[in-house]
Formats: sequence, C-alpha cells, structure tokens
Amino acid sequence: MTDLVAATGKERREFLDLMRTEAGEGLEAAQKVLGISSQQFEGFVESVGRVCVIRHGDESAGFLWIEERDRGLHVHGIVVKQPFRGRGVATEALRLLEAQYSDSVGAVELGVHHANHEARALYEKLGYQTVHHVEDVGFDILRKAL
Ligand SMILES: CC(C)(COP(=O)(O)OP(=O)(O)OC[C@H]1O[C@@H](n2cnc3c(N)ncnc32)[C@H](O)[C@@H]1OP(=O)(O)O)[C@@H](O)C(=O)NCCC(=O)NCCS
Repeated sequence: MTDLVAATGKERREFLDLMRTEAGEGLEAAQKVLGISSQQFEGFVESVGRVCVIRHGDESAGFLWIEERDRGLHVHGIVVKQPFRGRGVATEALRLLEAQYSDSVGAVELGVHHANHEARALYEKLGYQTVHHVEDVGFDILRKAL
C-alpha cells in the first residue's frame, strides 16, 4: 500500500541529499534549464510546490516533489531509496498522484535527462510522451494528459 504524505523540514533535506547523490546528471541539467545554482536549487525545494514522502506500508520509500501551476501538475523530482527500487514504488506513487489530481489539473509534466534510461522507461510505461527537447542540456520534457 503506497501513500503520499507531506514531508517535514528534515525529510525535505533528506530528499535534497538523495537527489544530489542519485539524480546527479538529471539534477545538473534541471538546474541549467532553470538557470539556477545548486544553492538556489536548495531554496527552490523549500519554496516551490511541495515535497511528499512516498510511504510504502509504514516505511519511507522515497520522495516526490510536485507543483500545481496553470492547470498542470509539474513533477520536479522523484526518487526511490535504493532498497525499495524495482518493486513498483515509483509506478504506484505516480499512478496515485494522477488519480489524486485528475479532477483539478489537465496534465502532468516532468523532465528527464537523456541518460536516465530507468526513469524514461518508467514514464513511457505510464503513458508520458516527449513534448519538448532541451538539446543543449540533454533534457526532455514529457507530458501526460489526465
Ligand atoms: C527512476 C526511479 C524513481 C524508479 O523507481 P522504482 O520504484 O524503482 O520504479 P518501479 O519499480 O516502479 O519501476 C517502474 C519501471 O521503471 C523502469 N525501471 C525501473 N528500474 C529499472 C532499471 N534498473 N532498468 C531499466 N528500467 C527500470 C521499468 O520500466 C519499470 O517497469 P517494469 O517493472 O514494468 O519493468 C528510481 O530508479 C530512482 O529513484 N532513481 C534515481 C533518481 C532519479 O533518477 N529520478 C528521476 C529523475 S528526477
């Protein structure tokens, strides 16, 4: 059973650390797309949208960072902790998110680095399609209409 719960300050810092260690190239590319430094990125996590803990049973299995904007839901980051990978946690979390927002937004958007084959396979399996290439940073924007 997967659930999404608002993260505490300490959990947001844990999310930032995980993004830095686990989503390196993707994070750098995202910072370039946004035109911000690593320090500014930290401020973004605190001030933009909200970070949710992905709860799997009664354990914290990872994090989702989302923002509702212009009738769209932007997934700025998703990370599943190593021991929980390959068990459908990210699939369930994204499906849950889509179900929760299907009445209030028209589409979900997210970005993925060209080298991140795991994440791309996950998004494509769920029906996300590339709508924009940011060539110079090797980053694609994917969208799924709800
Ligand atoms: C990408 C990530 C979130 C996937 O989480 P997960 O819970 O392991 O994913 P799931 O178990 O739900 O897997 C869903 C799909 O992802 C793909 N996938 C997951 N692990 C994979 C791997 N090692 N190799 C290839 N594809 C993989 C598959 O398509 C899989 O579908 P399948 O099980 O039907 O084959 C996780 O690997 C992660 O946290 N990576 C580091 C952070 C990151 O890159 N985040 C994305 C950019 S912000």
